[in-house]
Amino acid sequence: MNKLSAIVLAAGKGTRMKSERAKVLHPALGKPLACYPLLRAFELGADPVVTVVGHQADIVERELTARFPGKPLAFAIQASQLGTAHAVRAAEEKLKGFSGDVLILYGDVPLLRRETLQALIDAHRASHGPLTLITFKPADPTGYGRLVREGGRVTKIVEHKDATNDQRAIEECNAGIYLAEASFLWESLAQVKNDNAQGEFYLTDIVAAAAKAGAQVATVEASPEEVAGVNDRKELAAAAKVLQARINTAHMIAGVSIADPHTAYIDEGVEIGADTEIGPNVMLLGNTKIGRGVSIGMGCVITDSFVGDGSALRPYTILEDAKTGARNQLGPFSRLRPGTELAEDVHLGNFVETKKTKLGKGSKANHLTYLGDATIGAGCNIGAGTITCNYDGVHKHPTTLGDGVFIGSDTQLVAPVSVGDGAYVGAGSTIVQDVPNDALALSRSAQVTKAGWAAKKRAAQKAKK
Ligand code: UD1
Ligand code: CA
Repeated sequence: MNKLSAIVLAAGKGTRMKSERAKVLHPALGKPLACYPLLRAFELGADPVVTVVGHQADIVERELTARFPGKPLAFAIQASQLGTAHAVRAAEEKLKGFSGDVLILYGDVPLLRRETLQALIDAHRASHGPLTLITFKPADPTGYGRLVREGGRVTKIVEHKDATNDQRAIEECNAGIYLAEASFLWESLAQVKNDNAQGEFYLTDIVAAAAKAGAQVATVEASPEEVAGVNDRKELAAAAKVLQARINTAHMIAGVSIADPHTAYIDEGVEIGADTEIGPNVMLLGNTKIGRGVSIGMGCVITDSFVGDGSALRPYTILEDAKTGARNQLGPFSRLRPGTELAEDVHLGNFVETKKTKLGKGSKANHLTYLGDATIGAGCNIGAGTITCNYDGVHKHPTTLGDGVFIGSDTQLVAPVSVGDGAYVGAGSTIVQDVPNDALALSRSAQVTKAGWAAKKRAAQKAKK
């Protein structure tokens, strides 16, 4: 029987973002804000995780579902935002039959660390109480709920707007992150009323409910930075900076060199082998895995790709949904588009574009080339300016090259077409028919050379003057 589930509150509009888009979908370092609490919940083994949505519910549900394929992620609708207790109640239906502990997180708090949540779980289980929460001491507590204690024991949380001047002097604030035993949560939520300064159903009222029942409410303190919510775009950028610093520091500690950590943008979840070196202004995004001893030059952008050990990516090389083997040399200015698969020791040079193309071991295309829908064997040499003409205006067609093929410069391979093992294509050819193994194919007009022609022309021009 699973002991942990989670609720992520994400129904709010986020007015201060001044956006058409729901706040929780605004990205911080490549992922929508709400992905971070969801990642933490799944890491801790929460099952199910219910996200409470309201503003742009359909879009939020669609985008978050796409980010977590196969995960036990459910959604509950809170049509009007009547307060945090009302929001949690909206998730009750989806947690029917669950009898463990419910972790409550906010969709707009991206910096909360796994370690802090683990400390919350540990404190909760040690206290044997029905409710444990995270506190913090902000520089300015205005606006936050304050923890009221009597003889050290937590008795209630009072919201800033409802607080007396004495209570407003309390420095210990509620972060809004709780771990609650499920049956206690649903029973106490059913009692919450909205007779307060804001006319809202306060989730914080369950603290007084626990205390009144004589139960212990345990607390864990976190740093103000970690529990900070994102309310506007300034705070969004600041949160992304903190995430960036954390991620980059972890990679450096694990043996990755980063020339300028302020300009390296590495998404959470990207894997990088030791002894890899990352230059300035590099982005490693999405589901990307970089091998060991790779050098990634300035300005490379790598998305959803795999880069093999010992490869060198020169500046401004772009990979998207590509797989490259060990010891590749790519760039500068190579663009590997989706479906590119390179074996070991492949070289792609400047202004080479590939799409849905495989190159075998040791094959090279060093300059100015487009390879689309092509399957290229091992040890091939593709000359400068080679183009696979893969599109006839309606359909895409394949080009197939065997092993050890030599394609002369400025060749067009008009697909569908194939060139056999060991064959040569002469420079400047337009190849429209298959070339058999070990043949030479040429398709260019014979050269005409007129001896002395230029000298005669100059002499004639001179005589006219
Ligand atoms: C809440 C706490 C307060 C705490 C603060 C920490 C209550 C009553 N107060 O304040 O003690 O110090 O968080 O930030 O809980 N949300 C919904 N539906 C709603 C209301 C809110 O989904 O009906 C979501 C918001 O989108 C947000 C989160 O819940 O992600 C917290 O709401 P917010 O209004 O920011 O918190 P406060 O009520 O100000
Ligand atoms: Ca509020």
